[in-house]
Amino acid sequence: MPALELTSPRLRAREWRTGDADEMWRLVQDQPNIFGRVGSIATLSDAERWVAQEVADKAIRERIKYRFALELLDGGALIGGCRVHFEDAGNRMASIGMALHVPYWGQGYGTEVGMLMLKMSFEQLGVHRIEALVEPTNERSLTLVRKAGFTREGLLRERILDEDWIDTEVWSLLEREWRAR
Ligand SMILES: CC(C)(COP(=O)(O)OP(=O)(O)OC[C@H]1O[C@@H](n2cnc3c(N)ncnc32)[C@H](O)[C@@H]1OP(=O)(O)O)[C@@H](O)C(=O)NCCC(=O)NCCS
Repeated sequence: MPALELTSPRLRAREWRTGDADEMWRLVQDQPNIFGRVGSIATLSDAERWVAQEVADKAIRERIKYRFALELLDGGALIGGCRVHFEDAGNRMASIGMALHVPYWGQGYGTEVGMLMLKMSFEQLGVHRIEALVEPTNERSLTLVRKAGFTREGLLRERILDEDWIDTEVWSLLEREWRAR
């Protein structure tokens, strides 16, 4: 499959490329949890390995992980990343996630990325059902899924251990709901 790429009015979601590690590492130093748990990328070498893994994943024939760098159309700065993961490829069920560099929060970029990922998932990757797992305290993300038409399906109790156990809300959007919007 050719490299996937989508643009919105101000952003491009494109596949990770060898050469992204330096800029990625710059973001991680400023925001240690932007591309995963704090400590998962602790050095520039970790960032290089992370990007190399992304590049290698692109070549897998039965691909289940699609991860994208997010860059501004104006100037090309890397401002975060987003992902679509097939959780159950046979049933065309995927999950989505995104994270942006804090200076870019609250300017509508999250909304743009959400729309990009939904379009990519339903129109290019053939997804039937998308799940978003959101922490109940993450008001920005909850606003995003509500605005995009997701349905809240329930609460998974104490699913993640951080400093304490964290609950997770499950939200979903179906292809027919996306097409009928
Ligand atoms: C979640 C995230 C991507 C949102 O990005 P963003 O660029 O701030 O999103 P937007 O600017 O499009 O704003 C989203 C909505 O949240 C609302 N919002 C902004 N600040 C808020 C706050 N403090 N509390 C509640 N809602 C808020 C905005 O008003 C907007 O709603 P609106 O369009 O109806 O006005 C970003 O905060 C982030 O990267 N967070 C860390 C990672 C994360 O939590 N990812 C999601 C889980 S996978």
